[in-house]
Amino acid sequence: MGDWQSAAKRAAAYYAVDHFVQSGMRLGLGTGSTVAFVLERLAQRLQTGDLRDIAGIPTSEATAQRAQALGIPLLSFDDVQSLDLCIDGADEVDPSLNLVKGLGGALVREKIVASASRSMVVVVDESKIVPKLGTRAPLPVEVLTFGWQLHEAWLRSLGVEPVLRRTAQGEPFVSDNGNYIYDCHFPQGIDDPMRVEAAINNRPGVVENGLFLGYATQVVIGMESGDVVVKR
Ligand code: A5P
Repeated sequence: MGDWQSAAKRAAAYYAVDHFVQSGMRLGLGTGSTVAFVLERLAQRLQTGDLRDIAGIPTSEATAQRAQALGIPLLSFDDVQSLDLCIDGADEVDPSLNLVKGLGGALVREKIVASASRSMVVVVDESKIVPKLGTRAPLPVEVLTFGWQLHEAWLRSLGVEPVLRRTAQGEPFVSDNGNYIYDCHFPQGIDDPMRVEAAINNRPGVVENGLFLGYATQVVIGMESGDVVVKR
């Protein structure tokens, strides 16, 4: 990641916290390097007393640990049935604010939290903006470990190039939910995201895919120039 990208992620994250989070909110806390800056800013504003009575549901073990270390109060769905706002990163954002997410491996919990939130603010640097989904990042598909071997040929029959995600040690990557992930490359990008989402999620053994269609209410973009642009 270039220096400008890190600065752009921080700028987008701080803008989102400063403009969209209010005291008393119940938040969805996304996952990834941009959300790390969201947590940093939330913690700063809680410490100064500028924000009060904030609590969030984390979308990954990594976010839970980071939030706890920063003193951000956490909740679970035992405590609340809905959230005021979720703030999360993305791997791709298209002109209709549809997203691909999940390169961090947290797509299932991220989609559950987004679906339980009244609004979703997405924080990205400008490299994530694409004319068409599937052109910059692969589409992650999380599958149960039982029968994982059956999905590769089926995904290929859809015209997709699936790659089982592995750790640096070459072992299959295991999500926080104990599942595997196929990263699906679309040679021409994703022409019809709704059809792809329905086809993939209808497959027995598929837990979820990384298409987030119609979830984002605002996208905060940190630009290489240093500016921040909001799309809604
Ligand atoms: C996590 O599973 C992903 O959906 C992240 O939100 C996404 O990969 C963005 O990550 P960065 O903020 O690290 O680019």
